[in-house]
Amino acid sequence: MRTEVRYFSRNGGTKKLAEAIGAAVGAEAKSVDAPLEKYADVVFLGSSVYGGKPDAAVTNFVRQNGKNIGKIVVFGSACTSKSTYPQIKAAAADCGVKTAEMYFQCKGAFMFFNKNRPNDKDCADAAEFAKKQIKILGVT
Ligand SMILES: Cc1cc2nc3c(=O)[nH]c(=O)nc-3n(C[C@H](O)[C@H](O)[C@H](O)COP(=O)(O)O)c2cc1C
Repeated sequence: MRTEVRYFSRNGGTKKLAEAIGAAVGAEAKSVDAPLEKYADVVFLGSSVYGGKPDAAVTNFVRQNGKNIGKIVVFGSACTSKSTYPQIKAAAADCGVKTAEMYFQCKGAFMFFNKNRPNDKDCADAAEFAKKQIKILGVT
């Protein structure tokens, strides 16, 4: 099973989660600017909330690389607990790409809220989540 990790991160929080996930699943975490050169069964896709939605770079990545994606697993951080999961799932469905039922979400720093989040525990939780997803998706 080929696994890839992509993320969009304005301030580094989602990048931290992506690197923890990459280390856990044995794939280098890369920005969504890096296209998928080959088909991947699972793509962990990191996306945070900016003005209530994911950055356009994330949905563009899905559209432009859809043919090389077996299933997307969403992860991210936000000031609230809100995930961009529904929006990414909808964008993926529009181009025939499946999204895993579960996603990982944690608090992210914004202004004076949630200082230092995602923190080491968030990264460890993200890594654990990713390992479990690989097991689940590997058998279905
Ligand atoms: C321009 C901007 C807009 C944001 N809008 C929201 C928002 O609508 N809802 C929310 O919960 N967090 C919002 N946030 C907070 C980010 O989702 C949070 O800081 C997240 O951890 C950023 O991830 P990053 O460090 O990977 O860029 C916003 C942050 C920025 C910089």
